[in-house]
Amino acid sequence: MAKVKSQQDIAKMREAGRLAALTLKHVEPLIRPGTSTEAINKAVHDFIVSHGAVPTPLNYRGFPKSVCTSINEVICHGIPSEDCLLKEGDIINVDVTATLNEWIGDTSKTYVVGSGTSEERQLVMDVAFESLARALAVVKHNARMGDIGAAIQTYAEAKGCGVVRDFIGHGLGKVFHEPELAVPHYGEANTGMKLVRGMTFTIEPMINGGSWRHRVLRDGWTAVTTDGKPSAQFEHTLAIVGDGIEVLTALPDDPIMLRAKELGGTILWPILE
Ligand code: MF3
Ligand code: CO
Ligand code: CO
Repeated sequence: MAKVKSQQDIAKMREAGRLAALTLKHVEPLIRPGTSTEAINKAVHDFIVSHGAVPTPLNYRGFPKSVCTSINEVICHGIPSEDCLLKEGDIINVDVTATLNEWIGDTSKTYVVGSGTSEERQLVMDVAFESLARALAVVKHNARMGDIGAAIQTYAEAKGCGVVRDFIGHGLGKVFHEPELAVPHYGEANTGMKLVRGMTFTIEPMINGGSWRHRVLRDGWTAVTTDGKPSAQFEHTLAIVGDGIEVLTALPDDPIMLRAKELGGTILWPILE
């Protein structure tokens, strides 16, 4: 059985989610040619710590840094490094997770470095963005888990993209990855676990330009596409509430939220000053 959170629990997750979202926003100005991924790591780390929170990835199952930075053909879990400098036309996913007063918020976005990128890279970004919006639009009390995967897979494959199978969304709360609640980004509508109010989980589709397959580099973390094609990802943490969802990691002007609403989703999100 998946854990169900109380309104008080969700209020605490809202604070953690807000901090994760603000952290992403805080490092956005660093996304430009010449920045090292270690500089992003340091900025994420310092911002989270200065707000009395903990960067959840640091030492999680031995992960050595405070944020994941995944560039071009890296699907996820890229490790920040002093030697890795952003270049014009790269695409980079920055995945921020923060633990605040024991509760966790997890969110990521993919950015273009500089003034533009290739058609192939732009396509995976656009498809990952739209995939998350479509998924958010179908989540509500009494929907089923397969509705999420179907919304993503149907759309992304029609665009000629691959949907990563081996990394999925997850329940979270006080635990980073709740084993009881798996959120595949592929599947069939009207199948799988019933979704109910009080569930809190991430949706974080990883969309590849070619095959969905991945391999992990010898550092034990960095997951890359097997065909070298680019990969992109967007992630939000949500709670099922009322007739729809509250997106706990969305800032008021988040274009994914506007798109999810346009698609018919019942989306609330915290009013942030
Ligand atoms: N933030 C990732 C997720 O969305 C997990 C990163 S685990 C780490 O689930 F150890 F690599 F940080
Ligand atoms: Co996650
Ligand atoms: Co994440």
